Amino acid sequence: MATLAVYGGEKAVPDGSIKPWPPVDKTDEEMVLNALHSDKQARGDHNIAFESEFAEWNGNKHCLLTNSGTAALHMGLVGCGISAGDHVLVTAYSWSSSATCILHHNAIPIFVDIDFDTINMDVDKIEAAITPQTKAIVAVNLHGLALDMEKVMAVARKHGLKVVEDCCQSHGALFNGQKVGTFGDAAGFSLNQNKCLSAGEGGMFVCNSDEVYEAAGKLWSFGETARPEQSRDYHAYALGWMYRNNELTAAYARAQLKKYPYYFDTLRANGQYLQETLNGIPALIQPTEPEGHTHNWYNYNLRINPDCVDYPDMSRFRHAVVAALQAEGIPVSVWQQFILPEMTVFQAKNAYGGGFPWSIPGADEGVDYSPENFPVAQRHCDSYMALVMALRAPNGLDVAEKIGEGIRKVFENVDQIDPDKILGE
Ligand SMILES: Cc1ncc(COP(=O)(O)O)c(C=O)c1O
Repeated sequence: MATLAVYGGEKAVPDGSIKPWPPVDKTDEEMVLNALHSDKQARGDHNIAFESEFAEWNGNKHCLLTNSGTAALHMGLVGCGISAGDHVLVTAYSWSSSATCILHHNAIPIFVDIDFDTINMDVDKIEAAITPQTKAIVAVNLHGLALDMEKVMAVARKHGLKVVEDCCQSHGALFNGQKVGTFGDAAGFSLNQNKCLSAGEGGMFVCNSDEVYEAAGKLWSFGETARPEQSRDYHAYALGWMYRNNELTAAYARAQLKKYPYYFDTLRANGQYLQETLNGIPALIQPTEPEGHTHNWYNYNLRINPDCVDYPDMSRFRHAVVAALQAEGIPVSVWQQFILPEMTVFQAKNAYGGGFPWSIPGADEGVDYSPENFPVAQRHCDSYMALVMALRAPNGLDVAEKIGEGIRKVFENVDQIDPDKILGE
């Protein structure tokens, strides 16, 4: 039996094997230089071209390039007419801004526990969370796995709710062959460097309805009805933020989008390889890709099977496993250590001062953020670690093989993991 690297054994993944993300080549350089030397560096031709290219690629009528995915989600809610004090359902486990985007418009996040297998909002728990105050669902397609959007849309339509898809991690993911971001009333994507499509920072707002597009467009640019390239009257017709992006980012995003088929195929092949090679290790709970879903493997979640661990603190044990995998040269990390309702911004119920938005009359009715109401999210949160970026291009199957070996080595020897020895007393 090989000695674990954390105890002095040889690393499974030698230094330098994993190449950084995203790969940048001449086409990226040429596009960015073209934007740099053009007479417009704020919004210009690259922004406009990227928006139509992304809309066409994803299958949406409208797209606006934004300066973050969070901005795009906020635009989605405003585009759908969400008002101060309205309740909006969202998963109990995600990135913070899946829920803080709701607060941005003084609406109230209502959390729904997750399904352990998919790590997404439990779609069978949505209906029970709906009250007369509920106006929308932020449907997060987390980790690159689409929700069962048929069920989400059916329950939303039954109760007259709007749906904003959070696709910040799920570019290209499919449900029943249809791309995420095309099911709901609006969607937000991210271009942050961690994402499968990166331009450093940025995001995309997409929708199909002209009405949603016009309302979201006002929020995007100072409350104006005209795009900057149109004839403007510089009048604030509504509350507007400044969510636009610049030409350098747009040009880079255009170059990266062209390579997305290669990025997607690489991730699919590497993810599929890990699914097969790691199958059957008792201590490891693998991620799932239910029938009808096409994962983009934005990240690959590894969870520890509690039946194989004799240690009282699963979260601490998990940190020891993370250290053991890192010692093998596998860049796993713990991304979200907290379930969303547990985060201080929600517990304190005081986003804007003065208790706003919960202090809006009637808004706080029935709102309970007690963490114990979300036991499945907590169970996931305490036992997982994620492999992000290492499975992405240009890293191919040769890298995935080494990573697979290292994961197998650690999880097959999980009885050797001694948190006190690895992490200190
Ligand atoms: C699920 C999810 N939603 C929203 C966001 C926000 O995206 P951005 O960082 O571009 O604002 C992120 C990424 O950070 C995310 O992972």
